[in-house]
Amino acid sequence: MKKITVISPANIAFVKYWGRRDDSLILPLNSSVSMNMSGCTTTTSCEWGEWENDSIKIKYLGKEMIETTGVAREKSLKVVNRIRERLGTKLKVKIESENNFPEATGIASSASGFSALTKALYESYGENLSEREMSIETRLSGSGSASRSISDGFVVWEQGVKNDGSDSYAYSIADENHWDLRDIVCVVDVGNKKVSSGEGHIRPKNEYMQSRLMHIDDRVKQTIEAIKSKDLEKLGVVTEIEAMSLHTVCMMSEPPIFYWTGATLELMAEIRKMREEGVLAYYTMDAGANVHIITEGRFESVIVSQVEKLPYVKQLILNKPAKGARVI
Ligand code: PMV
Repeated sequence: MKKITVISPANIAFVKYWGRRDDSLILPLNSSVSMNMSGCTTTTSCEWGEWENDSIKIKYLGKEMIETTGVAREKSLKVVNRIRERLGTKLKVKIESENNFPEATGIASSASGFSALTKALYESYGENLSEREMSIETRLSGSGSASRSISDGFVVWEQGVKNDGSDSYAYSIADENHWDLRDIVCVVDVGNKKVSSGEGHIRPKNEYMQSRLMHIDDRVKQTIEAIKSKDLEKLGVVTEIEAMSLHTVCMMSEPPIFYWTGATLELMAEIRKMREEGVLAYYTMDAGANVHIITEGRFESVIVSQVEKLPYVKQLILNKPAKGARVI
């Protein structure tokens, strides 16, 4: 069977996925909206054959390609075994996966990693799934947000209403050339996050979650409108409120989840200051301390020159909108 290589981006959510209505089918409590990130990609090659064992190797920037161990191996093997069963085969796989970003930045490699893995497994077996089917299969990998990395550019993941999850999939609302939006990732914390998003999704049962869900459909609508009309101010305002809503829910969970550090808060204040000076920059944070600055290409160099001076900013990763997962 043919060896196939797939490249897939990570994505940053403007409206976040947080909480599930079904844990085994990875069905979210709300729809979410994101942009693929050009600077954070995983390239995965896969080949099926009559070998004795599966081999799953991974390489991070500046590191060796090594056979995975521990949790990473467990999670990848779960995906391989599920898809092997679906394909009805006993063949084994040889997988080699490479990330173009460093291992310990706290940048979620799960979206790029699991979308690349899922697509590479199917494509190398000769199964051509539709984009919708591929998105659903990727959702079932365990990382729901990875389902948003299959389609191009700006993507909506519909929560769906059906119990079997057949209407919970992601699709593109505008391709990567639609808008010169940027995501400047400011790495302020290189430690591994303490509470995984997987654990976070099953924890948020508090009154702030009710309030979050009351507003979420309107935020999804506003975000889609802002993207379609390329309205940075509108996108920025709703993105920041949405990030605050997510992190409030986390902090009010039982037991609480605190993802931010002092540097996160300092950087948020810096960004608000830049805005007062006419630089349209907005922040959002995923399940971690690192800050994503959302802006347009015309502001990128001035923002970079300001934030690279800050002693607590350890690294910057510059992103434009990117294509979804594709065979190379
Ligand atoms: O897909 P997961 O299980 O890694 O969860 C992603 C959660 C957030 O990154 C915080 C939000 C999102 O929608 O990407």
